[in-house]
Amino acid sequence: MRTPPILLLSLLILVLYHPPSSAVDFIFNGFEPADLNLYGDAILEPEPGPGRRYLSLTNASAFSLGRALYKSKVPAKSSASAGGVLPFSASFLFSIAPIPGVLPGHGLAFLFAPAAGTLGATSSQHLGLFNMTTDSDPASRVLAVEFDVFENQEFNDINANHVGVDVNSLTSVSAYPAGYWPDDPSSPFVNLTLNDGSNYQAWVDYSGGRLNVTMAPAALGRKPRRPLISIRLDLSTVFLNEMFVGFCAATGMLVEHHRILGWSFSNSNFSAGDGLITSDLPNFKPSQPRSSSKSKAVVAGISLAAAILVISGAAVALLVVLRRRRRRKNRMIEENGRGGDGAMEDWELEYWPHRIGYREILAATEGLSAKNLIGYGGNSRVYKGILASAEVAVKVFSQSGADEARQFAAEVSSLGRLKHRNLVGLRGWCRTRRAPAAGGGSGDEIMILVYDYMENGSLDNWIHAASEPLDWGSRVRILKDVAAAVLYLHEGWGEARVIHRDIKSSNVMLDRWMAGRLGDFGLARAHPQGRALGTTRVVGTAGYLAPELFRSGRTTAATDVYAYGVLALEVVSGRRPVEEGRPPLVGWARGLAAAAAAVDPRVRGVVGLDEAEAERVVVLALACTVVDPAARPTMRQVARALEAGDEKVDGEDGESGEAWLLDARLGSGMVGPDPKFWGPTGTHQHLTFEELRQSLSSSMTLSDSDIITEGR
Ligand SMILES: *[C@@H]1O[C@H](CO)[C@@H](O)[C@H](O)[C@H]1NC(C)=O
Ligand SMILES: *[C@@H]1O[C@H](CO)[C@@H](O)[C@H](O)[C@H]1NC(C)=O
Ligand SMILES: *[C@@H]1O[C@H](CO)[C@@H](O)[C@H](O)[C@H]1NC(C)=O
Ligand SMILES: *[C@@H]1O[C@H](CO)[C@@H](O)[C@H](O)[C@H]1NC(C)=O
Ligand SMILES: *[C@@H]1O[C@H](CO)[C@@H](O)[C@H](O)[C@H]1NC(C)=O
Repeated sequence: MRTPPILLLSLLILVLYHPPSSAVDFIFNGFEPADLNLYGDAILEPEPGPGRRYLSLTNASAFSLGRALYKSKVPAKSSASAGGVLPFSASFLFSIAPIPGVLPGHGLAFLFAPAAGTLGATSSQHLGLFNMTTDSDPASRVLAVEFDVFENQEFNDINANHVGVDVNSLTSVSAYPAGYWPDDPSSPFVNLTLNDGSNYQAWVDYSGGRLNVTMAPAALGRKPRRPLISIRLDLSTVFLNEMFVGFCAATGMLVEHHRILGWSFSNSNFSAGDGLITSDLPNFKPSQPRSSSKSKAVVAGISLAAAILVISGAAVALLVVLRRRRRRKNRMIEENGRGGDGAMEDWELEYWPHRIGYREILAATEGLSAKNLIGYGGNSRVYKGILASAEVAVKVFSQSGADEARQFAAEVSSLGRLKHRNLVGLRGWCRTRRAPAAGGGSGDEIMILVYDYMENGSLDNWIHAASEPLDWGSRVRILKDVAAAVLYLHEGWGEARVIHRDIKSSNVMLDRWMAGRLGDFGLARAHPQGRALGTTRVVGTAGYLAPELFRSGRTTAATDVYAYGVLALEVVSGRRPVEEGRPPLVGWARGLAAAAAAVDPRVRGVVGLDEAEAERVVVLALACTVVDPAARPTMRQVARALEAGDEKVDGEDGESGEAWLLDARLGSGMVGPDPKFWGPTGTHQHLTFEELRQSLSSSMTLSDSDIITEGR
């Protein structure tokens, strides 16, 4: 019997196109425990009622992270395929749902990883994908597609609702706002909100060196023809021969649910995603009180009963309101309270949980009345208030431009997550729109931050304006407090390094116990009567700016160290960094014959001055303010040096004092032939007052925004 040629041909095709024997093909409409390996907070949850189980990657708590990987490795490279990398087609159904009353973050990712486990990944902005060392490390060998709902400046995120392709780094190689192009070419791009709780389907396809990412509402039931992202990508240096594949997600201070409802994966079948069942999926959208599917009769019945209640209630309320209104003198509260405390608006969900209603703020500050005004910043006013029977400082941005909005977001997102006893605590925020004036218009945007109130005002006042000079012991203790705060910003917060950028005496607040707390506003520049404010603030700030800032404009940990050094000199000497008609503080101190000559004469002779300690602090401050940023000590060395001084006070001999001094010099690269490194050399390298004045325009932008998070 002869084999028909057609059969031979199909046999040949079958051999040619037969997928590598190890190729993987699966479709999970719901998961069984044997399908996946789970790590971190990932669990399988039963759907409410009978039905399939879905994967929940994070639990409803802060800094939760979870990862779920297919039970075994999948083949990723083979000598048989072009470029060595096997094609793959993955599709999954996911839902990112907010928790009512909580602001949502941070996102989920589909990933290929070289090994099982979470591989040291951290939560929050690292999405459970990387940590600070593995991010940007080519040895990570991770390909991920992120569905990110937080805009991290350090990773150049394009917005707070995007899809990105990540190769060994959270800084995406390509990203696009979440959404899809309908197949009808005349229809515009459709935006999708990743974390509104909707069920979405995503497709990640790789073939012939091109990676496509597509997404659509699961209800659409098919893949849009035009991908959201389509890029050429060589994965041969990323993939190992076999890789783990799965999902990860993380929350931070911002918390939301991350769920995977179904998943298909194939090395050969690019329609495998069609096998995912998109009908009858559970609904994870937070319930909307308005939407009721009850029958009309029931609704009518309830409405009637409710109407009677409402009408009688409204009558009582109206009486109360009318009575109150008569009593209330402050018209501002009524004008501005309108629209302020309504339903959560979309943009509000982007920020941090502690939202405070505008009405509450008005009530706390007696309608932001002038008598409660306690300070000015460059673009803000600060009021004292009482909120929940605690004293608070309320910072109201006086403009609402893009800069202020960015600064506001930066403060809420970074400061809101920072907690340290030497930082001024952020209690909450409020962002609302002032009701339009009678003439029309859209109304101004109002941005407000609420901080702990600092009883003793700013250090600035205590050094330069107080009638009683601050004693030596307090000065050193405050410097140690500030060093601890800056060290915490630079190193203490595992997730990212925070550069303060505006360390200065008016930003150091003193609490009830005279402990120093680093803040971010000129709170206690206690409101000088009838004086123009902007100028002094900027000049004051300019005196703290490291010389390299005028060249590169880049703030680094070393520029904070420089500012700290200037602050230390200011605290020791009682002189402002820049005063008209006098040499700049740093140059002046550097030119002194002896460190002791820098000490504030008002402290001299007053009890408690420790001459040796004074010299140590001055030497340290001068090490911090050397021109070369690389030669400055780190904040850790500064803090250690100050502590080492304590050990000596605690009764050790002089050696440890020498040891830390040596350490400070080592840290600053100062061990050299000239031990008197604070001597007159180098004075000319520092900027003169005139130069500072000329550079004012450029320094404005540097001093405007108070805190940024610096990526590595
Ligand atoms: C989430 O998981 C963490 C650690 O696995 C646990 O400590 C915490 O209690 C969990 N939170 C909730 C809300 O289940
Ligand atoms: C990041 O994870 C890697 C691998 O687990 C680990 O070696 C490293 O110490 C981690 N880095 C940080 C900063 O946690
Ligand atoms: C989609 O969102 C972008 C901003 O992310 C906006 O510019 C655009 O107008 C939106 N498109 C639609 C159709 O709403
Ligand atoms: C990616 O999308 C482009 C444009 O639609 C298409 O030509 C190509 O075949 C797609 N590739 C994969 C791997 O899906
Ligand atoms: C590819 O997967 C789809 C969905 O499961 C299925 O309907 C189709 O038959 C598969 N095609 C091949 C060639 O296996």
